[in-house]
Amino acid sequence: MDPFRFCLMLSFYMKFGSSVFSSNAPQAPAPIPNEKLVVLTVATKETDGFQRFMQTASYFNYTVKVLGMGEMWKGGDVGRSIGGGQKVRLLKEAMESLAAQEDLVVLFVDSYDLIFAGGPEEILKKFQQANHKVLFAAEGVIWPDKRLADKYPLVRSGKRYLNSGGIIGYAPYVNRLVSQWDLHDNDDDQLFYTKIYLDPLKREFLNMTLDHKCQIFQNLNGAVDEVLLKFGTDRVRVRNTAYNSLPVVVHGNGNTKMYLNYLGNYVPNAWNYEHGCSHCDDDLLDLSQLHEYPDVLVGVFIEQPTPFLPEFFQRLLTLDYPKDKLKLFVHNNEVYHEKHIQRFWEENRDVFKSFKVVGPEENLSQGEARNMGMDLCRNDASCGYYFSLDSDVMLTNRQTLKLLIEQNRKVIGPLVTRHGKLWSNFWGALSLDGYYARSEDYVDIVQRKRVGVWNIPFMAHIYLIKGTVLRNELKERNHFVLEKLDPDMALCRNSREMTSHREKDSPSPESFHMLRSPKGVFMYITNRHEFGRLISTANYNVSRYNNDLWQIFENPADWKEKYIHPNYTQIFTENQLEEPCPDVFWFPVLSEKACDEIVEEMEHYGLWSGGKHEDKRIAGGYETVPTDDIHMKQIGFDKEWLHFLREFISPVTLKVFSGYYTKGYALMNFVVKYTPNRQAFLRPHHDSSTFTINIALNNKNTDFQGGGCRFHRYNCSIESPRKGWSFMHPGRLTHLHEGLPTTNGTRYIAVSFVDP
Ligand SMILES: *[C@@H]1O[C@H](CO)[C@@H](O)[C@H](O)[C@H]1NC(C)=O
Ligand SMILES: *[C@@H]1O[C@H](CO)[C@@H](O)[C@H](O)[C@H]1NC(C)=O
Ligand SMILES: *[C@@H]1O[C@H](CO)[C@@H](O)[C@H](O)[C@H]1NC(C)=O
Ligand SMILES: *[C@@H]1O[C@H](CO)[C@@H](O)[C@H](O)[C@H]1NC(C)=O
Ligand SMILES: *[C@@H]1O[C@H](CO)[C@@H](O)[C@H](O)[C@H]1NC(C)=O
Ligand SMILES: *[C@@H]1O[C@H](CO)[C@@H](O)[C@H](O)[C@H]1NC(C)=O
Ligand SMILES: *[C@@H]1O[C@H](CO)[C@@H](O)[C@H](O)[C@H]1NC(C)=O
Repeated sequence: MDPFRFCLMLSFYMKFGSSVFSSNAPQAPAPIPNEKLVVLTVATKETDGFQRFMQTASYFNYTVKVLGMGEMWKGGDVGRSIGGGQKVRLLKEAMESLAAQEDLVVLFVDSYDLIFAGGPEEILKKFQQANHKVLFAAEGVIWPDKRLADKYPLVRSGKRYLNSGGIIGYAPYVNRLVSQWDLHDNDDDQLFYTKIYLDPLKREFLNMTLDHKCQIFQNLNGAVDEVLLKFGTDRVRVRNTAYNSLPVVVHGNGNTKMYLNYLGNYVPNAWNYEHGCSHCDDDLLDLSQLHEYPDVLVGVFIEQPTPFLPEFFQRLLTLDYPKDKLKLFVHNNEVYHEKHIQRFWEENRDVFKSFKVVGPEENLSQGEARNMGMDLCRNDASCGYYFSLDSDVMLTNRQTLKLLIEQNRKVIGPLVTRHGKLWSNFWGALSLDGYYARSEDYVDIVQRKRVGVWNIPFMAHIYLIKGTVLRNELKERNHFVLEKLDPDMALCRNSREMTSHREKDSPSPESFHMLRSPKGVFMYITNRHEFGRLISTANYNVSRYNNDLWQIFENPADWKEKYIHPNYTQIFTENQLEEPCPDVFWFPVLSEKACDEIVEEMEHYGLWSGGKHEDKRIAGGYETVPTDDIHMKQIGFDKEWLHFLREFISPVTLKVFSGYYTKGYALMNFVVKYTPNRQAFLRPHHDSSTFTINIALNNKNTDFQGGGCRFHRYNCSIESPRKGWSFMHPGRLTHLHEGLPTTNGTRYIAVSFVDP
């Protein structure tokens, strides 16, 4: 007898029977107890996706049985081509022992790209409401055989096509379904189920339907625009806005893995507004418990002229990690930086476990250099971690390396952002064509309004990869770092759509090497701490002597840190400001470095005026009280200097001459050189300014003897100028002053006549 016919008769009999014995009043069926639900899934490896699946399953207390663990995967590359037959075979084998349990409900789902958003009780209730013995997930995209579209029953609203990533049914029925499987492991599972579903007889016999309106199963393929995160008090769900449902199983099928990763950053309890991040402290590695610290290969990449490179290296040196555990690999693509690296190497070559530099003469492409660095760790079994660091990352947190290691992920980067901008080192989302898209949470993560460890699709500039991962999941060379442009991206580079996707605050793959989340390996960015910032390498003109001096506009935070006196802010916080003569204020403003570099810059330029009365540089061509000087304008530094006046001098003016609002404008900004054999002093004079600043650029007694300034009206002299400190005094009327003779060596001061 045909088994189908037999079963049909059986089901007819059962239907008939039940109508005889049921009461007249319709009654809600008794809920199915949670113990009657078993989740079956197939996983041949414990991938990151699998672990996430299990985490969400155990959060809801699902009973999960994993099939196929440790088996070779033979089901093809699901998602790109057909395959997945192995899943049916494994399910068929598993059902043989479960088939006898009539009231057992089996939920069969994928695991690598799937998460739970709700618990067993809810899923069982919805299953009962569906009033079928077997329920399949549905989707709007037909796969793998488009020609079958017409054979599908019409649905008025909802998804029409079967998806095999989620099946729920009573054990005997699921068993009947899969016992028909006699194909190969690499045959297509979805096609197999589809053919059964499309056969009206079999469909009825198995009492089978689809979850058309995503009550239980949400497939994301083709439906990304339908779903939203819904934040609750202790749980986050996915809401399907097309059907107003809260699906229980969320499946990143097809091209939507990245989107599932985004949802998985929240659902079901990974992060919410109430408690923040709930898995951030899972599996932490306690470095202090280790016998010794692991070896780390630090790959440093200088791929373009980069401001503040000596400072970058100093920060590397001050990382809190044993230096004898650090191996350094530096790729320098710029001749300009060879002097900086040479200096650092000479001073520190013995500090690190090893120190290798590949210079511009090797003519390596950026991709080749990055592969080389990564290989050095990959091919060395003792390499615990590979820490890739671009020269435009200013790490301000000395604990960065330790914090990343302790977070214990396969691939993790710290969030770094451009000072005061939304520009950062990661992408929160990808558009479907694989290009940049701003994720809904991008800004909150960048601004640290949401703090946690985030699964993301792309990052660049700085990241840490476990050595074991390089030797296993990522052992294929080249498949990880992209050469300039990913082919997919290159393809759409010129399309108009691209420009609309590109944002000025996002890193662009045309100028950066991005690390793409590789298959099966999750890539995280953490913003649990402040780590540092990204500096701008745009508009870095290296034709001067000390080029960083000109970075006041492009990289103001780094400029300030390098060139402003470390005690400058104490002027305001601790009133660190002296008044050595009446209305002559004295305060720290420039750092040692600023003083040295300004002097170097002037001497490098070298065209000192000679202190003559005739002066072509000024209106009228005649200077009554000439000094031996060079104007800031002559070295192209006047715009920057005026900005410095406005940013750092004006606030002091406001403090000491309250009620006077300076325009912070000055026509005369110059560096004066006093030396016995040229010009040693300046006779008493007034300045053509409302107030004057006068900054000592070097040290009395070490660089020169004598010097200082005398204010006649008050019979008051300041004979021990301090390097980096500025005088500020009224220019006219009250403050007739003179420059006291420099008796030996050379004295330099920077002067501005403010508000002439
Ligand atoms: C899972 O089970 C534990 C222990 O029985 C319980 O405390 C917890 O609330 C359950 N979780 C959910 C989501 O029901
Ligand atoms: C499917 O099974 C349900 C009970 O679970 C029953 O009410 C319904 O009539 C069945 N449908 C078909 C088409 O057999
Ligand atoms: C460096 O490599 C580029 C491209 O690989 C090539 O065009 C160029 O000639 C090379 N330069 C030198 C100096 O070898
Ligand atoms: C770089 O600076 C020099 C002066 O030192 C100037 O002549 C040149 O135009 C600048 N280049 C750019 C691109 O701004
Ligand atoms: C800054 O001020 C502190 C006292 O407040 C002093 O000890 C320190 O030397 C000063 N730093 C510099 C660079 O002058
Ligand atoms: C100026 O001060 C000096 C001591 O600092 C003193 O010897 C001198 O007499 C004073 N001159 C006048 C004119 O007050
Ligand atoms: C002048 O300075 C030089 C070096 O700075 C030193 O050798 C010399 O002794 C100084 N002369 C006087 C007179 O102080």
